[in-house]
Amino acid sequence: MPIYKKNYLLVSKIYPHLMRKINYKYWSDYLVMLSENYVTNKSNVLELGAGNCLLAFYLKDNFKNIIATDLSFSMLNSSKDKKVKKVCSNMTSLPFKYSFDLVISCFDSINYLIKKNDLLKLFTSIHNLLSDTGIFTFDVSLENNSKIHIKVPIREGKFKEITYKHLSSYDEINRIHKNTFEIKLKNKNVYKEVHKQKIYPFFDYFRLLQKCGLYVLECFDAFTFNDATENSNRVQFIVKKIK
Ligand SMILES: C[S@@+](CC[C@H](N)C(=O)[O-])C[C@H]1O[C@@H](n2cnc3c(N)ncnc32)[C@H](O)[C@@H]1O
Repeated sequence: MPIYKKNYLLVSKIYPHLMRKINYKYWSDYLVMLSENYVTNKSNVLELGAGNCLLAFYLKDNFKNIIATDLSFSMLNSSKDKKVKKVCSNMTSLPFKYSFDLVISCFDSINYLIKKNDLLKLFTSIHNLLSDTGIFTFDVSLENNSKIHIKVPIREGKFKEITYKHLSSYDEINRIHKNTFEIKLKNKNVYKEVHKQKIYPFFDYFRLLQKCGLYVLECFDAFTFNDATENSNRVQFIVKKIK
C-alpha cells in the first residue's frame, strides 16, 4: 500500500466527514470571548494550522483582517470560503513582515511539531510577529486525551465514495500519538497517510514559551474558563510577550 509522505493530501478529502461532530461556530465564539479584551474587529489576526478554514469561516465575522495559514495546500484549497485570505506556510517559518494582534492555532495543530526545536522556532516567530498588546492563543492535546482516543483504536467510514480506516495508537515512551489513515479512493486504489503528533508534557510549554520571550497569561481546560492542569485532556493557552 503506497504511503503518502505529505500529510493531509488525501485526508483533506475526508476531513469534513472526520470533523462532522465538531461545532466550529461554538469554538469560534469561545475564541472570540477569550480574546475580546485584547483585540478589536480591525485587528490583524493570523490563524496557524487552519486546515480547511472551517473556524476562519466563523472568525471572519468578528475579525475582518484574518489570514488563514496551513502547511497543507490541499487542506487550504479544499475550503469553499473564498473570502478568507489564505497563505500556505509552515508555522515554524512564517512569511509575514507586519505584526498581528491575535494569533490563533486550534485543534492540536501544534502537536504536529514533533521536534522541540520546531516548537522553539514557532514560539520565536510568534515573539517576532505579535504586537506588544497582542495575544497568541493555541490549544494542545495532552496525554489523557491520547489515552481516551486509543480506547477506540479503529474507526471506519465512507464519504463521497471514499472509504477509510482510521487507526489510532499512542507510544507512551516516546509520547507519540499516531493516526494512520488507510484511504480507498473511488478507483479502488488504496493509500496510507501516517500522522504523528508529539504529546509534550504540560509544563514543557511554559518553559519553552518563556525561553522565547513569551509568558502564559491564562491556561484553561479547553472550551472552559477553568484553570488547566497536567491531567486535562486539551488545554487552551493565552500567551503574551514578556515586556
Ligand atoms: C487536526 S488539523 C486541524 C485543522 C484546523 N485547525 C481545524 O480545527 O479543523 C491539523 C492541521 O495542522 C496542519 N499542520 C501540521 N503541521 C503544520 C505546520 N508545521 N505548519 C502549519 N500547519 C501545520 C495540518 O496540515 C492540518 O491542517
